[in-house]
Amino acid sequence: MTTGETIPAHGGRLIDLLATGDEAKSLRERAAGLRAVTLGSRRLSDLELLATGGYSPLDGFMTQDDYRAVVDGMHLAGGLPWPMPITLAVSGEQAAAIKEGEEVALTDEAGRLLGVLEVREKFCYDKKAEANGVYRTEDEAHPGVAALYAQGDTLLGGPLRVIERPHYDDFPQYRLTPAQTRAAFAERGWKTVVGFQTRNPVHRAHEYIQKSAMEVVDGLLLHPLVGDTKADDIPADVRMLCYEVLIENYYPRGSVVLSVNPAAMRYAGPREAVFHALVRKNFGCTHFIVGRDHAGVGKYYGTFDAQLIFNEIDPVALGITPLMFEHTFFCKKCEGMGSAKTCPHEAEDRVFLSGTQVREMLAGGIAPPPEFSRPEVAKVLIEAMQERSTPHHAI
Ligand code: ADX
Repeated sequence: MTTGETIPAHGGRLIDLLATGDEAKSLRERAAGLRAVTLGSRRLSDLELLATGGYSPLDGFMTQDDYRAVVDGMHLAGGLPWPMPITLAVSGEQAAAIKEGEEVALTDEAGRLLGVLEVREKFCYDKKAEANGVYRTEDEAHPGVAALYAQGDTLLGGPLRVIERPHYDDFPQYRLTPAQTRAAFAERGWKTVVGFQTRNPVHRAHEYIQKSAMEVVDGLLLHPLVGDTKADDIPADVRMLCYEVLIENYYPRGSVVLSVNPAAMRYAGPREAVFHALVRKNFGCTHFIVGRDHAGVGKYYGTFDAQLIFNEIDPVALGITPLMFEHTFFCKKCEGMGSAKTCPHEAEDRVFLSGTQVREMLAGGIAPPPEFSRPEVAKVLIEAMQERSTPHHAI
C-alpha cells in the first residue's frame, strides 16, 4: 500500500498485466506466429479485469490447483479467499491442437490481438461440480449455469500478458481502472469508501442504503456492472443515464465517484457477493454494500444467503468490510425509507414493487410511484423504453 491509498489490493499488490515498450513490441512479433484463441464478451470482461488488477492477485486464467481450490473451498491454492473460477474454456478440437507450455494469442471477435497466454496447463473439468459448488444448483435454467454449460470442455490456465485492453465504445469516461479509482479517492482525500454493485436501474431502496452507508464513510464508489447481463435486465447505457440524473439531483457534489465494472454478471448470489466485494477492494473500496438477495436470480438463493456466506470467511483475509442491509422500502406511515429493523408498520403501509411489476409499468408508459423511484429516474426509463420498444425488445 502506498501513501494516500485506502486499502491494499487483495493479496497485497495491485496487479498490472499490461506490457509496454519493448515487451509489447516483442509480444506482438511473437504473437504473429502463435495459434489464436478468440475471446467472447464474457472472457473479454475477464481479460480487462485481469489486465488492470481488478482480479488481483490473479495474473492469468486459473490453473488446476487454483480452480479446484476455488470450486471446492472458495479460496486460491495459496489460501486467500476467492469465490469465482476465472477460466478460459476452449472446445475439445481447439484444445487438441494446443500443447502445454505453448503460448497462444488472445484476440477479440474482430481479430484484434489483445494478449498472450502461456498455457501452463490444459485440463478437463466437471461442469456439474462447478455448477453445484459455485451456483448451488445444476439447473440449466439458471443463467450463470447456462453460460457455464455452453462453454468449451477444456480449460487453458497460465500467466497472461496483455498488449491492449479490450475496445469498448460505450461510456469511455466511466471506464476507470482500479489504479484510477484509487487515484480519484486519494485526490478527494477519502480514507474510507463504500462500493456499490448494481445491475438494475437505481431505485429509492438503492439510494437509501447507499446514503445510510455514506453517513459513516468518506465517499461512495457507484460501480454498476456493465458486462453481459440477462436479456431482460435493463441495458447498461440506460442505467448509466439513471445514475447520472440521480447523482445530479440527489447527491452532494463530489460525494460520489461513478465508474463501471466491466465484469459479466454470473447471478451466483452468495459466491458472487464475495466476488463483488473483493473486486471492489481492488478498486480501492474499504466497505461494500450487500443488501437483499445480492446478485440473485429467480428463487435459487435465500434473501440473505449472500450475507450469511461472509460468516464462512476470515474477515482479515477478506480485508474489505461488508455492510449488510435488510430489505428496505418506503413506508407511508413513517413517510420515509426504512426496513423491518426501523419501521413498525404493516405490509400494506409499505411500497413494494417487484422488478417484473416495474418493467410492466414502464412498458405501459406508467411511471413507478415517487416512493419507489425518483421522478427524474422514472422519466429516463420511460423515454428509453419508448425509444427502443419493439414488440420483441424488452428493456
Ligand atoms: S444485484 O444483482 O447487482 O445485486 P441490484 O442492482 O438490484 O442487483 O442490487 C444492488 C444492491 O442493492 C445489492 O447489494 C442488493 O442486495 C441491494 N438491494 C436491492 N434492492 C434492495 C432492497 N429493496 N433492500 C435492500 N437491499 C437492496
